[in-house]
Amino acid sequence: MLDIVQVSDIHLSPTHAWFQDNYDVFVDEMHADPPDYIFVTGDVCVNGPDRDWEFAYARQQLDRLPVPWRAIPGNHDAGDTPPDERNNHPLTEPLRATFRQHVDADWWVQDLDNWRFIGLNAQLIDSGLPSEPEQWSFLEVALADAGERRLAIWLHKPLFVRDPEAQGRMLTALFPEGRARMMELCARHGVALVGSGHLHRFRRVTMGGTKLVWAPATSFLMGARKVVPGVARLGYMRYRFGRSGFTTRFVEPPLFLNLDVRNWNKFKGSTIHLPERRPRG
Ligand SMILES: [Fe+2]
Ligand SMILES: [Fe+2]
Repeated sequence: MLDIVQVSDIHLSPTHAWFQDNYDVFVDEMHADPPDYIFVTGDVCVNGPDRDWEFAYARQQLDRLPVPWRAIPGNHDAGDTPPDERNNHPLTEPLRATFRQHVDADWWVQDLDNWRFIGLNAQLIDSGLPSEPEQWSFLEVALADAGERRLAIWLHKPLFVRDPEAQGRMLTALFPEGRARMMELCARHGVALVGSGHLHRFRRVTMGGTKLVWAPATSFLMGARKVVPGVARLGYMRYRFGRSGFTTRFVEPPLFLNLDVRNWNKFKGSTIHLPERRPRG
């Protein structure tokens, strides 16, 4: 039985340390009851595109974890799917390189017991960047040569918010073209789990044979511009992967404070505009 934690949207910064406290609690919980492995599903920085020093800081913070971990980028790290009309921080090849230099590769495969975990850069999907076809090829090979292993995919953004058939390009989830391709691959290869972050909400949905899990954030809760389903609470996910299936648990540490940034966002639009705040201590 594999004991796996998925943590998401930790949003850390040495100069804009608004969301450090819950992360410190999370690190304490991992030391008290270590899982076998931790997967970090993106948004490790508060504003990586404008502050390259946040990548090295995020790495330092992830290295406080007592067990092996792997991470994928979120839109607050290497930028969002171009053109990113919301924050004007489109994903670029140099930002991808910064993430890879400091944190981790942005797509990778990690085999543990009889499970294959595949991490992807969600913002690269439908980006039109030169590296997008490389990631698709990597994914197709990783799915096809898994052998007897069962499959799970980590992706910063969910495949869809409410409607898998929804049209229109929204930054809340994958765009329709990439979503359709991902859904076809999940069905064809019997992917058991797609675990995402980004919406800062916990939710479980089933799509054919695939379970879709939205991990909550550790950092902050935000108001959705349209009503988004799911539980608006902070926490992290704990899974047990057995030979044929897995269980999920939404963990809400007693010391987590549910920080709600709706008031800030109402006036200033995004947490990327928060002023400086140095860590305590
Ligand atoms: Fe986030
Ligand atoms: Fe995000």
